[in-house]
Amino acid sequence: MTIVVAIDGPAGAGKSTVAKALARKLRVKYLDTGAMYRAVTFLALSDGVSLHDEAAVAELSVNCVLDVGEELVTINSIDATQAIRGPEVTKAVSLVATNSSVRNELRARQRIWVEENGGGVVEGRDIGSVVFPDATLKVYLTASPLVRAKRRVAQSGGDVAQIAAEIAERDRRDSTRSDSPLTKTDDSITVDTSDRSVDEVVAQLEQLVMIADAKRAANR
Ligand code: DC
Repeated sequence: MTIVVAIDGPAGAGKSTVAKALARKLRVKYLDTGAMYRAVTFLALSDGVSLHDEAAVAELSVNCVLDVGEELVTINSIDATQAIRGPEVTKAVSLVATNSSVRNELRARQRIWVEENGGGVVEGRDIGSVVFPDATLKVYLTASPLVRAKRRVAQSGGDVAQIAAEIAERDRRDSTRSDSPLTKTDDSITVDTSDRSVDEVVAQLEQLVMIADAKRAANR
């Protein structure tokens, strides 16, 4: 049976690290949907398209050739792997993520990706709530604001207080936008990664996937 694991949660909760490691354990592929929103943002900024011009940004998202792999992210054959993690894209991306036409397009691509790859571990904000409501397992990964800010600083440098403020602002925008805001669904399992190692969290999720998959097989 196809396994789809949806991992949602705020920035800095450890989604990418956990999702990648879990995918490896389950021998399935991993998709970072945030990288898709980031890549479209990068393209709009590089092409000088105003992020407030919803129709123009939507058109870019529909017409682009986007490839989000574990190592490389390319858009229209441009390697955007580094640039999508830079401060310009990071500041601008939540505006692009409010664009419903962009969201529709990227969600369609996410569903195609899962179909083509025979399942996978998919991380984002609306994966369990909207993209894959029937996922094998839905996880809401979180951590305290201070831990999240410290992780970002360890990854990319900066000042903890400033990064904490930026994360709080992005959380606010992600959770208050009208189209598919970041929410925890009733059927998702909340995992707080603040005081736990990656291995511990991944082992717990692996076990939960096995249990969920066995239950589904029994109910068929
Ligand atoms: O996970 P991340 O920080 O790379 O996400 C970048 C932005 O994209 C963030 O503002 C939330 C948004 N996003 C979204 O709205 N829906 C998703 N499925 C994934 C990311």
